[in-house]
Amino acid sequence: MPTVPAVEAPRALHPELADERVRSVRKINLVRLCGVSAFFLLFLVLGGLMRMPAWTGNLELFAVYWVITCGVFWASRRFERLAPFTGVTIALVDMPVVFLLQWATFPTSPSASGVAGFTVGFYVLLVILAGLFLERWYILFTAAVAAALEVLLQHLADVSLGAMISTLILLALTTVACTYSRGRLVELVARVEAVAQHETARRSAEERLRETTGLLGIAQTLSGVTEVQEALRRICRELSRLMGAETVAAYLVDPERASLRPTAAYHVPKEMLHDLSTTPVPLAGVGFGDALQSGHLFWSDSVPESSDFDFWLFRRYPHQSSLVVPLLVDHRVAGAFYLVWWTRRRTFDRAAMTLVEAIGQQVGKFIENARLYEELEKNQQRQAHAERLRALGEMAAGVAHDFNNMLAIILGRAELLSATTDSPDTRRALRSITTAAQDGARTVKRIQEFTRRKPPRPLERVDLGVVVRDVLEMTRARWEDQAHARGIGYEVRVEGAPVPPVIGDAADLREALTNLVFNALDAMAAGGHLTVRLAEDGERVRCEVTDTGAGMTPDVRERVFEPFFSTKLEKGSGLGLSVVYGIIKRLGGDILVESTPGIGTTFTLWLPIAFDGPDPATRDRHAVTPVQAARVLVVDDEAAVREVIGDILMSDGHSVVYCPDGASALRALEADPFDAVFTDLGMPGLSGWDVARAVKRRRPGTPVSLITGWGDSVDATDAAHRGVDVLLSKPFSSADIREGLERCLASNGQRPSGATSP
Ligand SMILES: Nc1ncnc2c1ncn2[C@@H]1O[C@H](COP(=O)(O)OP(=O)(O)OP(=O)(O)O)[C@@H](O)[C@H]1O
Ligand SMILES: [Mg+2]
Repeated sequence: MPTVPAVEAPRALHPELADERVRSVRKINLVRLCGVSAFFLLFLVLGGLMRMPAWTGNLELFAVYWVITCGVFWASRRFERLAPFTGVTIALVDMPVVFLLQWATFPTSPSASGVAGFTVGFYVLLVILAGLFLERWYILFTAAVAAALEVLLQHLADVSLGAMISTLILLALTTVACTYSRGRLVELVARVEAVAQHETARRSAEERLRETTGLLGIAQTLSGVTEVQEALRRICRELSRLMGAETVAAYLVDPERASLRPTAAYHVPKEMLHDLSTTPVPLAGVGFGDALQSGHLFWSDSVPESSDFDFWLFRRYPHQSSLVVPLLVDHRVAGAFYLVWWTRRRTFDRAAMTLVEAIGQQVGKFIENARLYEELEKNQQRQAHAERLRALGEMAAGVAHDFNNMLAIILGRAELLSATTDSPDTRRALRSITTAAQDGARTVKRIQEFTRRKPPRPLERVDLGVVVRDVLEMTRARWEDQAHARGIGYEVRVEGAPVPPVIGDAADLREALTNLVFNALDAMAAGGHLTVRLAEDGERVRCEVTDTGAGMTPDVRERVFEPFFSTKLEKGSGLGLSVVYGIIKRLGGDILVESTPGIGTTFTLWLPIAFDGPDPATRDRHAVTPVQAARVLVVDDEAAVREVIGDILMSDGHSVVYCPDGASALRALEADPFDAVFTDLGMPGLSGWDVARAVKRRRPGTPVSLITGWGDSVDATDAAHRGVDVLLSKPFSSADIREGLERCLASNGQRPSGATSP
């Protein structure tokens, strides 16, 4: 408890007391004037009526006395400084006049004690009145004058010495009492004033302390908390303490919807919580929107009467006062605090306004920094993620290449064997080998979808709206018929305005969206809503696929694009999203996943808009014409692979020469002409490229087919420039090899030579 400091009575009178004194003196003078006038009239009227010459005989004296009284009264009103001194006239003038009047009126009757009693009473009154004036010298002076006159008058009245002394003692006692009370009064006033001053200082110190603590809390929050929502929640609490607001809500501007999105709040009444947290406040729909957008504070101490707060939320939860503080980022409003006083009329002083305005600016800067930081962090994460996926892609590509070689042998051999065997059992066994190998090939192909960096076909203009419609049609069975059969319901919706065409590949995009739709349906085992939303987003088209399914934990979300990552056990291969990722990336697009467990998931794709470019023209397919027996050179370092190719060709009546590497192939070419050359790409020594180039140099008319286990990663145009006429991927079927040869021969209109095998 702070103690009140000891105070000394001040020498000068407190201004308020001095004013009070002037007012008292004026009142006394007025009463005195009224009394004297009444006496004057009484003497005049009664004296006249009752024919008492003793009463009317002193009218001149009365008149003089009345005039003096009037003058003193006038002086006390006219001159403020003179007012206290008019009291002196009471002692100086009244007493002799009263005595004279008394003496003149009752010349025969006055007894000494009567005069003494009369005058002493009067003196006491004088000193008490003088006490009212509070100046010590004044009391003493009045008492001294009164004592001198008393002595003189009593002497004239022949009063006894004892009576005179007792009168004087009485007068002295009264004077001491008055002086003492005056001293106490002045001291008391000084004390009261000191207490008041101290109280004001204490309140102001408390206010400063509260402000400093509040600001410190806000500064700590801004420097220590990086998560915007948490920071805003804490600042709401600090603001509530700082400003004494009963509820504080923080909003962030949602530029897309031109509204304020509720983000955090402090001390919200329970019944309001739901409405407050789900209702955006439209910037253009409330009166304070303009002030806010121009970065100004806005307040009202009578919200119910103000049309500026004409929004249903404010009307449903009526409050008396509110203050809206903009959060500024480079003079642009990024959000606002809404401070509420439910029943109190809160007046807002300049200092408080300046304080909250500064806080608004600081918080605005914080929001901007947090946004930049978040963006940076996201970019870093995205980069690390992309890097991991790239490494995985490289590894997967190598694995796929080796698998393709093996599958090529298995498939080729199985097909050849089944063509030569008559045993139904062997054929059945061979069929299951072929089916398994084809399944394996499909898996490898999906892996290669993920690893492929270049599109398989020239890109075209694709209408995503049409792709979405096709995909929903293609998957209808899953979300309609089968769902009904299982007794669950899906609501599937397409939203958004028509969007411009994107650069892409319709088939690839159909595959990507089909994978997303299937995943969404898988995630909504008990039914739900699937929404595909299309929108133009700058230079790109955005496509969101949202489900209300199980959602994902952050750990799962991190890994969804990795090949073979699946939570569906044997029901999922874990390749769906890696295929989607591969497709979107090689189309120059972007993909993002947002998910909340128990709420749902949104996959967002961005694809570049096709501003001009070729129409989705039908691509130039090589015409395939039936061919006669041809002489073919097959080059592959893997004996099993080259023999499979050779056997397939020979089974069609073509003749084949095998070479295990590039050098021997070139020697064979030197020796004899061939109708076509089938060469592997990756071989020790000379590669498939070298072989193709050498063939074109030495025998320009000979078509070359390049067989690669790297899927579609070889660019067709690039290959054509390097002398390759036909590209074939491993694993291949016998039909692929046949078609390859036909296209080779048709590529330059060359007729087969009909050479026979050696
Ligand atoms: N919409 C979604 N909601 C919840 N989880 C999802 C969603 N989409 C993908 N996932 C998660 O991501 C994992 C990988 O998905 P991906 O499509 O790559 O493989 P899959 O669906 O498991 O198998 P596949 O698609 O090859 O049959 C899924 O197993 C699932 O856990
Ligand atoms: Mg899937």
